[in-house]
Amino acid sequence: MSKQVLILKGDHIGPEIVDESLKVLRKVDEQFGLELVFEEGLLGGAACDAVGEPCPDETLEKARRSDAILMGSVGGPEWDGLERHLRPEKGLLKLRSGLELFGNLRPAILYPQLAEASSLKPEIVAGLDILIVRELTGGIYFGEPRGIRVLENGEREGYNTYKYSESEIRRIGKVAFEAAMVRDRRVCSVDKANVLEATVLWREIMEEVAKDYPEVELSHMYVDNAAMQLVKAPKQFDVMVTGNMFGDILSDAAAMLTGSIGMLPSAALDKNGKGLYEPCHGSAPDISGQGLANPLATILSAAMMLRYSLNAPDAAVAIEEAVSRVLDQGLRTPDIHTEGTRKVSTSEMGDAVLAAL
Ligand code: NAD
Ligand code: IPM
Ligand code: MN
Repeated sequence: MSKQVLILKGDHIGPEIVDESLKVLRKVDEQFGLELVFEEGLLGGAACDAVGEPCPDETLEKARRSDAILMGSVGGPEWDGLERHLRPEKGLLKLRSGLELFGNLRPAILYPQLAEASSLKPEIVAGLDILIVRELTGGIYFGEPRGIRVLENGEREGYNTYKYSESEIRRIGKVAFEAAMVRDRRVCSVDKANVLEATVLWREIMEEVAKDYPEVELSHMYVDNAAMQLVKAPKQFDVMVTGNMFGDILSDAAAMLTGSIGMLPSAALDKNGKGLYEPCHGSAPDISGQGLANPLATILSAAMMLRYSLNAPDAAVAIEEAVSRVLDQGLRTPDIHTEGTRKVSTSEMGDAVLAAL
């Protein structure tokens, strides 16, 4: 049976990295007889320019009727001056929330060939395999009330609301524990329960969820310490589960352990396993249009899509192994380039993965 995949290229390096991923997807489609049908949609700045809003209803509808979505990245300085609700990032948030994609998986895995590319010493990161489970449709990103208001003294005040309901915490907790069951069976829940009530509740509910998973060891860590431990001794972690904003920050930090933010894929899943797949990085306006972007995070996101939403685990493994072979060949985009390896462009990297399949 054919599978419908919505492609949202987005802005700046978005189209460059998605085009490479599409080459790779078309090849595995052929090799594994997947019958993928691709459809394109508008999101982010591209959508603002074309139709005046960052996530048009048409895109939401296309997303609803597709089996999975592959996205590049959105945003850029040319849209930063727009009213907040028109900004490209709002479009992405509307898509995540509209489809209830609350479960964000961000695997930070170090390919051994890239140990030298990490900004940490090779022995600190060798063998690294962490899964960050980030809550994606709640917390301070979506809490109301929010805004900028004028105080009695005439001064303006910006405010946001950090809140999580029990059911929101429980469902992301389950995602983390289920993931831990097929890994090393350790979950570290990251919070700020020494200061924020919302995360006092978070900690309490995580303890409750843990009772259903007696084989999994649960620990708790404050987010400031977690940031420090990620840089000091990252291999102590198996699964980390945390809220929307802490997860955003910690996953960018974890990305550098793997050599580059250009290596970190992600899946955003709803309760039925439908998902939006995107690299963790942004649209990198500073390098766009020059063939400098690393397409591997997006290519690896496509592999996650095959595994989690399209029931094609063999094709996913084939892509991951092809990426590894290309790294064995010493090919590197500038962000992961080290002495003794060969610098290649975005499309040369995509072509190399294609050839390795
Ligand atoms: P960014 O992730 O775009 O870039 C940070 C740094 O990492 C830059 O130096 C960039 O060149 C580099 N980089 C990122 N991806 C790379 C890749 N694939 N290969 C090589 N180098 C790469 O973060 P930023 O500069 O803070 O944000 C730029 C824009 O992207 C902003 O508009 C932001 O809102 C948006 N953004 C979008 C997403 C998304 O679509 N999911 C995520 C993060 C940021
Ligand atoms: C990410 C991005 C987004 C986020 C932005 C662009 C809304 O940083 O996917 O990590 O903060 O979730
Ligand atoms: Mn981010």
